[in-house]
Amino acid sequence: MTADTLQIEIQKTSKSRLDEVDFENLVFGRNISDHMFIVEYRDGQWKDSRIVPYGDLSLSPATAALHYGQTILEGMKAYRNDAGEVLLFRALDNWARMNKSAERLCMPAIPQDVFMNGLTELIRLDSGWVPATEGCSLYIRPYMFATDPYIGVKPSESYMFVIFTSPVGTYYAKPPRVKFETKYIRAAEGGVGATKCGGNYGGSLYPAKLAQEEGYEQLIWTDAREHAYIEESGTMNVMFFIEGKLITPHVSDTTLDGVTRKSIVAVAKHWNIPVEERKVSVKEIVEALKAGKVEAAFGAGTAVVISPFASINYEGVDYTLPEIKEDSFVSKVKSYLTDLRTGKIEDVFGWTLKV
Ligand code: COI
Repeated sequence: MTADTLQIEIQKTSKSRLDEVDFENLVFGRNISDHMFIVEYRDGQWKDSRIVPYGDLSLSPATAALHYGQTILEGMKAYRNDAGEVLLFRALDNWARMNKSAERLCMPAIPQDVFMNGLTELIRLDSGWVPATEGCSLYIRPYMFATDPYIGVKPSESYMFVIFTSPVGTYYAKPPRVKFETKYIRAAEGGVGATKCGGNYGGSLYPAKLAQEEGYEQLIWTDAREHAYIEESGTMNVMFFIEGKLITPHVSDTTLDGVTRKSIVAVAKHWNIPVEERKVSVKEIVEALKAGKVEAAFGAGTAVVISPFASINYEGVDYTLPEIKEDSFVSKVKSYLTDLRTGKIEDVFGWTLKV
């Protein structure tokens, strides 16, 4: 795959901040690269596509997104290979998912060439920000929000689409302790759970804070009707490796169709490992935990990559998970995906794009 270059007005920074970054100690989300890509939607058209120094945006206090949450985001990553080149991972999947979110939130689709050309130009310009350190990558945050300065509740007629990037290390400093959430919910059928809209994250903060006060880093959401079935976790999809099988909740209109999730499923199938994508009940997982049958329970997401859980809590009991062995599925799939993303092995799936 290659991406052509679109004419984008480029204004370079007069002073790079790159030398201020400690690439050996990257904290997730703290450092933002020198430039950002912006394109605006007005009068039914995307226009004014530009790359400018990263900085504040000037917005009306009446900006619609700030009031009614018409805002969507994506998360993806770029990696550096041994030759020093930069590879994007499954960027078109993020583009497609963004447009699904846009449709549900009554926002305009972002054309593929606008998205990909803005992205690749930005990454080329800030390629020095892509870490070469093992386990690190350049996190990419595309997002779109309603910009009409109008406080009536209706779909905005104007939007801003922005991409900025951030060199990152690991998301969780240590394997998270998680808890099945059986009071609050993330999403209900017919809602916006399948979209990556800002409100899904805003609404998760309070239950997550309560869990953190009890000593858990993250929640595993359960279904809105019965709290009997597993949905996803706070910033990631959830997967289990039990008796030689990869088991994960199927994607529905209450869960996010995670790019890392579907990559792991594809690799497992490629290796002829049985995969079950289906309704997964809390009860069956708790029973498997009690019987010591769960080899691994882990989160999968762009930011967290693959994060094995240290323990899972249900109804006041903490079930500790075994340590991840080097020859386990989790270790193997994690190394395989890292090697694929960094160009160390052949990309048989066609997931990487050289920038
Ligand atoms: C991602 O994994 O890219 C996400 O969007 C999660 C983020 C909210 C940290």
